[in-house]
Amino acid sequence: MIRYLTAGESHGAALIGIVEGMPAGVPLTTEDIDDHLARRWLGFGRGGRARIEQDRVELLSGVRFGKTIGSPIALRLENAAHHKDRSDWPNVMAIGGSGEGIEPVTLPRPGHADLAGAQKYGFDDIRPVIERASARETAMRVACCSVARAMLRHLGIEVGSHVVRIGIVGWEDTGAWQEQVGLLVSEGGARAVYEAADESNVRMLDNDLTDAAVEHIKETKAAGDSLGGSYEVVATGVPVGLGSYVHWDRRLDGRLAQAILSIQGQKAVEIGDGFSGGSTPGSQFHDPITEDEQGHHLTRGSNRAGGIEGGVSNGMPIIVRGVMKPIPTLVKPLETVDISTGEAQPTRYERSDVTSVPAASTVAEATVAWVLAAALLERYGGDTFEQVEQRLALDAAT
Ligand SMILES: Cc1cc2nc3c(=O)[nH]c(=O)nc-3n(C[C@H](O)[C@H](O)[C@H](O)COP(=O)(O)O)c2cc1C
Repeated sequence: MIRYLTAGESHGAALIGIVEGMPAGVPLTTEDIDDHLARRWLGFGRGGRARIEQDRVELLSGVRFGKTIGSPIALRLENAAHHKDRSDWPNVMAIGGSGEGIEPVTLPRPGHADLAGAQKYGFDDIRPVIERASARETAMRVACCSVARAMLRHLGIEVGSHVVRIGIVGWEDTGAWQEQVGLLVSEGGARAVYEAADESNVRMLDNDLTDAAVEHIKETKAAGDSLGGSYEVVATGVPVGLGSYVHWDRRLDGRLAQAILSIQGQKAVEIGDGFSGGSTPGSQFHDPITEDEQGHHLTRGSNRAGGIEGGVSNGMPIIVRGVMKPIPTLVKPLETVDISTGEAQPTRYERSDVTSVPAASTVAEATVAWVLAAALLERYGGDTFEQVEQRLALDAAT
């Protein structure tokens, strides 16, 4: 079993991660992690934090001479904002002291964990909720998941994503982008999908849509508002048999949905063409089973199931789509109530993104990679990476 834990607050000194259960011998460098951390900062419409942080991971344990050693892998990411903000802003996350001179946050922002979190933990200052509920945590998540992703890559499994919609700008329907994604996948697997998307500053696979989305973000920003959107994650090279139908918590589709919804602000998940499945007759929805061109393996004539049937991967590309709600921190004030006085008040603006859909798509890639790596190690796992490789190769040969 692999698992990871993250710790750290948005304006704390650092984020910490521990990845446990990776087999020994997986090649791993800091670049494997930093490359994906840099991709998380991509996207027109990000706020000031993107200009402050330059995430570089420190690997503190579990890796020797560029390979995992089977021990827990400890990771650290410094928060540049912790130091940058100090000159004109007190250290809101000081570990000691009385907090004297630090103004409490008492205006909960609708759409954030602020009010429910403060009520749950009994805080009269919302700051601790803001700090841990913040999506800054996703930086460490991407770092931890990139460890698993490095292993997948060495096994020929790639995960990529692209943005489908930002606000009202997006592809008209699934069919419109599927041909392009199919071409990219045939050229270079899911890696080609994310590399092509990274060329666009909103991670969209179409230049006209990119331009329109950038305009839409500019107009929205000028109006003091914010945007959500949607994205698609594709995984290629995934073997048949990851996940299981035998018990609810082993289903791969359920585990992927949980992973996406665990990301801050994600509100809906679709596996394959799941949403249109509700209005399509069965004869036009279910993917026909056919022989591959060599006549060696059974495959599917289409992939509306998104590579998963009965909670088990079926060898087709895995397709997972996610929907992100609009960013809840707006220049335009929303209605709230001051929890210290009970008075109705407008919300106050703090530094924020106008939209984070491009960033969220890269976080979604990372979490999908983690789920696939976990399911893969359940099926082929061993103490060493060599054992994993051998078991996978043996299975592929049969
Ligand atoms: C990568 C990323 C960046 C985000 N940046 C911001 C931001 O700058 N400002 C903000 O208010 N919310 C931001 N969010 C969204 C909030 O974290 C999210 O809406 C909030 O946690 C509440 O969502 P929930 O109800 O799903 O937990 C971001 C989310 C992600 C995934």
